[in-house]
Amino acid sequence: MKTQPLTTAAYAQSMDAADPLAPFKQQFHFPQHQGQDSIYFCGNSLGLQPKSAEAAIRQELEDWRALAVEGYFKARNPWLYYHTHFTRTLSEMMGSSEAEVTVMNTLTVNLHLILQSFYRPDRQRFRILMEAGAFPSDQYALETLVRLHGFDPADAIVEAAPRAGEKLLRTEDVVALIEEQGSSLALVLMGGINYYTGQYYDIASITEAAHLVGAYAGWDLAHAAGNIPLQLHDWRADFAVWCSYKYLNGGPGAAGGLFVHERHASAPAFPRLGGWWGNDEKVRFKMEKGFVPKAGAEGWQISTAQVFNMVCLKASLEMFQQAGIGRLREKSIQLTAYLETLLKQLPLPCEIITPADPQQRGAQLSLYFPEKGREIHSRMMEQGIICDYREPGVIRLAPAPMYCSFTDVYRFYEVLQNFSA
Ligand SMILES: Cc1ncc(COP(=O)(O)O)c(C=O)c1O
Repeated sequence: MKTQPLTTAAYAQSMDAADPLAPFKQQFHFPQHQGQDSIYFCGNSLGLQPKSAEAAIRQELEDWRALAVEGYFKARNPWLYYHTHFTRTLSEMMGSSEAEVTVMNTLTVNLHLILQSFYRPDRQRFRILMEAGAFPSDQYALETLVRLHGFDPADAIVEAAPRAGEKLLRTEDVVALIEEQGSSLALVLMGGINYYTGQYYDIASITEAAHLVGAYAGWDLAHAAGNIPLQLHDWRADFAVWCSYKYLNGGPGAAGGLFVHERHASAPAFPRLGGWWGNDEKVRFKMEKGFVPKAGAEGWQISTAQVFNMVCLKASLEMFQQAGIGRLREKSIQLTAYLETLLKQLPLPCEIITPADPQQRGAQLSLYFPEKGREIHSRMMEQGIICDYREPGVIRLAPAPMYCSFTDVYRFYEVLQNFSA
């Protein structure tokens, strides 16, 4: 086959033709712009609606109508176990056993809950290390948490920041900071992929460094779940939380996920806040005193399964199961590299601050505009390119491999070419 120049529609079309995952694009609804699908590069914020979601919701409505309370046991997807219907797919993404993952609540709520187990400070060991510029909800969660325990955030929260003049965090600097904090460090809590820069941190090395000083390591995987394959069990991460509405396409406010490593999750005496949904099913309906946690991450469940907050996620994860996170990642590496190559042809007044190394990033590229970032973002949106803007100065572009094509990237380039003229 004759190789086409990268900057041609023919090249993008040939890449799409060779892409085994290309048919998944047809399984999603796209917002329309001037009678055609928008270029949707915002799956890192809110994933698209799977076409199968509507029927999946209808099915649960029908079962509710027909079965009422009996639906807990007799619905086609019994509601009592609803959160378990897709743990296999999630465990493959997270690199864990099925027992180590569960779905419940939302990200920040899960973070607060799990921190009750993993942040039990004393006067000696009370510090938490996080990345400077972490997503604000994590910052607020930790600030309020340390205050609740009587500590001053200025003392108890240690931030790992990039070196002067740099935008990315160096693993060796994070590790050095962990070692410096030593026995005062209770916890490392970082985003697996930073929401602003798109940098994918070295979870294994940072987790190991935390363990070496006797601290736990927990991860906010909002931007990693469904974006990159992880190995949480082998990396010995203590816990992780994520939301399901970004790359996982679970819909706005979809129930979030939780990972708890087996060595903690299989210990019934591990401290936690309980509720009846985390109680062993064999005794749950005896309505007796005495909390008996289920084995695994499910032992952190609290309330009745939120069926309608999980139904679209279930529909979406069926596609992840078919596509496979490994194949999605392979495509994603190519797709994002293609976007990067085409961006470099454009005279845009910006710097790509996301690492150039594909092993240190997921789907997202963050474009830093010293000036006019917001204005340029508005112009992109007017032209049917859906992406987002984050202060200060960053436009985030995330071609999610599940439904974005090489032709989408090429169309983006075409629009931007006229733009800069
Ligand atoms: C990295 C990160 N952490 C936390 C959150 C907050 O999630 P939630 O609103 O589901 O609690 C988000 C939301 O976008 C996020 O991107």
